[in-house]
Amino acid sequence: MKAAYIIKTGPPENILYGDLPAPKPGPTQCLVKVSAVALNPVDTYIRGGMIQMPLPSPFIVGCDLAGTVAEAGPGVTRFEPGDRVWGSNQGLLGRQGTFAEYCAVDECWLYPTPDGVADEQAAGVALVGITAHLGLVRDAKLEKGETIFVNGGSGGVGSTVVQMSKAIGARAIATAGSDKNAELCRQLGADFVINYKIQNVEVELKKIAPAGVNVWWETLREPNFDLAVGALSARGRMIVMAGREARPPFPVGPFYVKGCTLHGFVVFMASPEEQQDAADDINRWLAEGKLRANIDRVMPVSQAALAHRLQEESTIGHSGALAGKIVLKP
Ligand SMILES: NC(=O)c1ccc[n+]([C@@H]2O[C@H](COP(=O)([O-])OP(=O)(O)OC[C@H]3O[C@@H](n4cnc5c(N)ncnc54)[C@H](OP(=O)(O)O)[C@@H]3O)[C@@H](O)[C@H]2O)c1
Repeated sequence: MKAAYIIKTGPPENILYGDLPAPKPGPTQCLVKVSAVALNPVDTYIRGGMIQMPLPSPFIVGCDLAGTVAEAGPGVTRFEPGDRVWGSNQGLLGRQGTFAEYCAVDECWLYPTPDGVADEQAAGVALVGITAHLGLVRDAKLEKGETIFVNGGSGGVGSTVVQMSKAIGARAIATAGSDKNAELCRQLGADFVINYKIQNVEVELKKIAPAGVNVWWETLREPNFDLAVGALSARGRMIVMAGREARPPFPVGPFYVKGCTLHGFVVFMASPEEQQDAADDINRWLAEGKLRANIDRVMPVSQAALAHRLQEESTIGHSGALAGKIVLKP
């Protein structure tokens, strides 16, 4: 089968595209014929060696996938050949990745794709959708009628957080770095959008939410806790999930006297049951049209190296070249 893989970690150009043997499914695995995969910033960190992970060699890059079950191991109970599925959490903790024509995936990381939802959509919402759900539902416990601020509303995670917040019935305020991205946030359901390049976020938030925001979702790798804690309401919750090297100052006093809480997590440490709970709601919202993948562009898997370069320059280099996900087709 054709696959995008690395032999050793390094720059995007280390990604090779060529023939590898197709995997054989284990007893509890499905062999999935892949029709779409999505790229996430974590893929670039693993490929670049910025996150130390056990890696098979060769290592096929990628976490997310959608496709059709081609073969099911004897212990598989939920799927059979022909079923459309999507999933995430591959290419992590020693598991092989997804940027290939076939993947062997344990059934606990697979979910049925709702009728009428394209594979590009299912793949594009996979990791970011599970991330958004874990943060909003499991950790921040966002409730109907509350106000959430999403810093980075046009990105892969942020655009999903905005949509899920609206599906939950909250009021969503998002930031964007251009008029185009601000319009995108509005289309995704944001009630207010602040252009952080030309507006003062602190001042605008005071006008929109004078009593503070109930939840602050930070997608930036360099959180500004002074700004965030100042903008939180009493008993506000803050989510941090990016920036392994970040060591910003933290305003202890204002934080604890307001009774705020801080939640940090990585999606791949969530249990299969926690990820399944997220996938159930994601599937419901996809089917109801309340959630869609924010796809910036679709590329062939043969261009995985170029896609990694674009993603890295956008997420780490703030190039502004992407507003959402890169989905790739084998
Ligand atoms: N912990 C986890 O489990 C987990 C899961 C998924 C992702 N992550 C991490 O979360 C981060 C975001 O992921 P992503 O997929 O959403 O990345 P992304 O698609 O690159 O989005 C980043 C967003 O940040 C915005 N941005 C850039 N500079 C900004 C600034 N100064 N103020 C406000 N917004 C700004 C950009 O929007 P504009 O172009 O409009 O400025 C862009 O939309 C990454 O570091 C990723 O590794 C962690």
